[in-house]
Amino acid sequence: MYRLTTLGEFIIKNQADFPYAKGELSSLLSAIRLAAKVLNSQINKAGLVDDILGSIGEVNIQGEDQKKLDVYANELFVNALKARNQVCGIASEEEEKTIIFENEEGVNGKYIVLIDPIDGSSNIDVNVSIGTIFAIYRRLSPLGAPATLNDFLQPGRNQVAAGYVIYGSSTMLVFSSGNGVNGFTYDPSVGVFYLSHPNMCIPKSGNIYSINEGNYAFFSEPVKSYLDYCKREDNTSHRPYSGRYIGSMIADLHRTFLKGGIYMYPDSSIALHGKLRLLYECNPMAFLIEQAGGLASNGRQAILDIRPTEIHQRTPFYGGSEEMVTKLESMFRMSVN
Ligand code: AHG
Ligand code: MN
Ligand code: MN
Repeated sequence: MYRLTTLGEFIIKNQADFPYAKGELSSLLSAIRLAAKVLNSQINKAGLVDDILGSIGEVNIQGEDQKKLDVYANELFVNALKARNQVCGIASEEEEKTIIFENEEGVNGKYIVLIDPIDGSSNIDVNVSIGTIFAIYRRLSPLGAPATLNDFLQPGRNQVAAGYVIYGSSTMLVFSSGNGVNGFTYDPSVGVFYLSHPNMCIPKSGNIYSINEGNYAFFSEPVKSYLDYCKREDNTSHRPYSGRYIGSMIADLHRTFLKGGIYMYPDSSIALHGKLRLLYECNPMAFLIEQAGGLASNGRQAILDIRPTEIHQRTPFYGGSEEMVTKLESMFRMSVN
């Protein structure tokens, strides 16, 4: 009989492929797996029990409405990671400042984790797919002292692992430690993630474009030109493309991983640097996209090559099928600005 590989088995079997080949990264990934299971069970109860749907009546550092689930998920992941003693610091979308662990285990932790506990918050209350995104780095500062800001402000190329969890019609955990991308589907009846999508590869091209096109009037000329191109009829390149926009980056990019296409969140006259955050949204997703053979760009530069200056900085983001992102970048090059 065909035997399914569990995420736990996969991590142990591939431990030697992890950078630094130690059990520490495995332990860290299992903390994320555990928190994802707990969060999944809560999400599935949303609407049945109190304290899950709705806002807490406060805004986070981004000026965004914090949902109850944002706050719950943030505490869940921070506590799960802290308990494993491998992490010296965490940055989260829901925390204004970095969390630095100053206890003995913390100062000797080798890893930094950056996290978006719930991506797609505005979709929670309407039963549409949401996700969790995480990025893992080795610290730069010496062991034995608290982590420093520089440990967090590393370019995305330095990631040793990154991944996301999508809470959708099924729950999946997708991650890479630099040797391709693998997807695991959760079986809630036994509480186990099984390898269901080995070696995920983004198709070289696609026929779906994904963007909040309601903001068209505010976009720059290269983005407008690319959108016009997507909609122009041309049988040889399967245009016009289909438009799909869920409004959860994770869900829009998960589809892009499986079907190909391009996902875009541009800068605009109403969002000067775009909306998405470089450190805990764009970098981990760009790492996964490149590992799956696709491209992720800010229009002029690979996302992973951007040198971060602030924890919560934003960047325009264009990611997905190589040919489609290359086409968009060519329109940026043609534009004078
Ligand atoms: P978050 O819920 O973590 O704040 O992220 C929401 C992001 C992203 O997931 C999504 O693609 C985008 O916001 C949608 O924004 P618009 O409503 O402006 O299209
Ligand atoms: Mn997000
Ligand atoms: Mn979020």
